Amino acid sequence: MTVSPLNGKHIVLGITGGIAAYKSAMLTRLLIKSGAEVQVIMTPNAREFITPVTLSTLSGKPVITEFFSANSGEWHSHVDLGLWADAFVVAPATASTIAKMACGVADNMLVTSYLSTRARVFVAPAMDFDMMQHPTTTRNLQLLRADGCTIIEAAEGELASHLTGKGRMEEPENIVRVLESAFSPISASLAGKKVLITAGPTQEKIDPVRYISNYSTGKMGYAIANEAAARGADVTIVSGPVGHFYLHPGIKVIHVESALEMLDKAQGSFADTDIAILAAAVADYRPAFRHSSKIKREENSIDTVELVKNPDIAATLGAAKRPGQTLVGFALETDNELDNALRKLVRKHLDMIVLNSLRDHGAGFGTDTNKVTLVFADGSARELPLKSKSEVAADILDNLPK
Ligand code: CTP
Repeated sequence: MTVSPLNGKHIVLGITGGIAAYKSAMLTRLLIKSGAEVQVIMTPNAREFITPVTLSTLSGKPVITEFFSANSGEWHSHVDLGLWADAFVVAPATASTIAKMACGVADNMLVTSYLSTRARVFVAPAMDFDMMQHPTTTRNLQLLRADGCTIIEAAEGELASHLTGKGRMEEPENIVRVLESAFSPISASLAGKKVLITAGPTQEKIDPVRYISNYSTGKMGYAIANEAAARGADVTIVSGPVGHFYLHPGIKVIHVESALEMLDKAQGSFADTDIAILAAAVADYRPAFRHSSKIKREENSIDTVELVKNPDIAATLGAAKRPGQTLVGFALETDNELDNALRKLVRKHLDMIVLNSLRDHGAGFGTDTNKVTLVFADGSARELPLKSKSEVAADILDNLPK
């Protein structure tokens, strides 16, 4: 008999108040059968749909709903629970709990535990068709995705309202499958590898208040970093200025502003790196002169900013590459995409280049999705469909040349 990857894992199962809560009993049973330890947390509304007795019997642990036990007054620590968990699963996740998770409204045990956890988080939405389609729900799910949660998409079918459409919670067997694949041995496929990632834009200062930059948000680079860390790699990100992202524990982030700083830090880490993935949108030019005080419109106004070329970080690392190191770059092109990408790969001594075309809808800066073609040193190419940036990250790591 094969052992499930969930064997011995600690799973917090959060159950919220939707009709699909009845399926959580089966989900609990399947998780226990796979060898996992399951701690159920119910929201107060969930208790209207399924009894805690059913779930505590199936999980073999008292169900937690409140911060304090009504009988003994014992305090349930959301921090301890969050840290105990290897996986934090919310199934079913109602529109309301999704919104609370997205915005950090910590008014119950489930959401406080979510905010305390460092575990991988899986959310299986279940709600009526119209609620599922509402822009608010779409937006909140996008926020959760951006925070690193895996959304186990709702299925289509007949709903409690007797309407038919998307909104049914995914079947418990499939939820277990998603969890098993997340914890399967491939997840450790980069164990012992050092991965260096450049991410985000660079900012090239003109004076203390102005800079030259680009629209990069860093999403793609951070998605690759999280995926590599989830596969066991020791990850360092050299990151230009970006917003806040979910970060897998253990990732080291070195913050930089300019291309020169990024080059310096990337070179500093490169020697003992096994795989370097250069996802940063490095500004190709910087002002030749950086004014130390603000340029005033009236007094010392300037009409032109003289620019000088920035070093090419990818090409610099490519020239220093030693056997056994893998170097991956990106190419953002608007025309002659494949030719240009292949030329870039050769010029920078890359082993693979991830080609984005700005002509593809859903690809490029700031989106949660990307459509890429992986181009290899032998000239072969693999075109992938539109996917979420975390799925693209997984594809990139699955296809790394040896
Ligand atoms: N890159 C880099 N340093 C630079 C410019 C680019 O490391 N100064 C890296 C990017 O991180 C990416 C790859 O090189 O992995 C290609 O970047 P791209 O902007 O598409 O190419 P460029 O070389 O800048 O060429 P062009 O702008 O002419 O298309």
